[in-house]
Amino acid sequence: MKKQLASKLICPACLPQEHALQLDIRSVEDEDIVDGALTCRQCERRFPIRQGIAFLDPGRQEDRQASRYEQDEVLSSYLWSHYGELIGDEQATDAYQQWAGLMEPHGGLALDLGGAVGRFTFEMSRKCDLAVGIDKSLAFIKTARRLMLEGELRFTLKDEGLLGREVVIRRPARWQPERVEFIVADAQRLPFGAHTASSVASLNLVDKLPFPAVHLQEMNRVAGTSGSQLLLSDPFSWSTEAAEIDQWLGGKEDGPYAGKGMDNIVAFLGQGQERLSPGWQVTKRDHVWWKIRSHSNHYELIRSCFIKAVR
Ligand SMILES: C[S@@+](CC[C@H](N)C(=O)[O-])C[C@H]1O[C@@H](n2cnc3c(N)ncnc32)[C@H](O)[C@@H]1O
Repeated sequence: MKKQLASKLICPACLPQEHALQLDIRSVEDEDIVDGALTCRQCERRFPIRQGIAFLDPGRQEDRQASRYEQDEVLSSYLWSHYGELIGDEQATDAYQQWAGLMEPHGGLALDLGGAVGRFTFEMSRKCDLAVGIDKSLAFIKTARRLMLEGELRFTLKDEGLLGREVVIRRPARWQPERVEFIVADAQRLPFGAHTASSVASLNLVDKLPFPAVHLQEMNRVAGTSGSQLLLSDPFSWSTEAAEIDQWLGGKEDGPYAGKGMDNIVAFLGQGQERLSPGWQVTKRDHVWWKIRSHSNHYELIRSCFIKAVR
């Protein structure tokens, strides 16, 4: 973990109280802490840093889908989804460039929540001082860090059945690895203090969380109160595999958050919500076509609906 990130972190276990973490370094290479720990001065909880990866997920909340994102096949599928055009695949989409194109350059911190294997985070490295990809999946964070450190990733792309081929992703020179970091953390308990981020993004995440409304509150908490940007994109594939129906932010006839997910999120972020003061102003609402690949003859085409908001 880059040293410069330590001063921006707080204890995610103590939320809603915000307590600083004390950094102990056991081994460091250049600016990268390889082995060490971050300890809360209040609750004394210790968050390890192992092989360069900071583990800041207090892991208390139920998450029914978490282990799915540790599987090799799913990892390979997401690597294709994020970097398909870098391996010259003509089926690849430019979804992540489209999402990144919606963000204005800014100083300070950009957070990519549920950022998986890092494509949007790398895109944001061209637009801010430090872009941090946050994900619960260790396999995803480890892989994204490898691309950050080594500039190259080899992986097996499934062809059919047991057949596959090795492909190589090379990190483009336009991305700034010195302005990128990836940590293991929960998008519903962010280890960042209030108003520390100039931009927050949540791409294809909100329908995968057990507590999506808590995630929105967390995005709001960490985002700056003025001059900050928020990007949220999602296909709203609500499912009881991820969350109880009463937690969904849409996709139901009655109860809290009846109606369509994006309408409810826009209302949630608006001025009317006293807990979200100051409210957000939606500047763009549209969709991006996003693809996931499972093998040579099987792709999922997903309409990910987004809003870009500022305050
Ligand atoms: C559908 S994928 C989307 C990934 C990425 N944002 C994209 O658009 O390609 C959902 C991601 O959220 C991560 N995730 C699931 N629950 C999470 C949580 N509670 N906190 C952080 N990340 C989470 C998963 O590991 C996975 O990488």
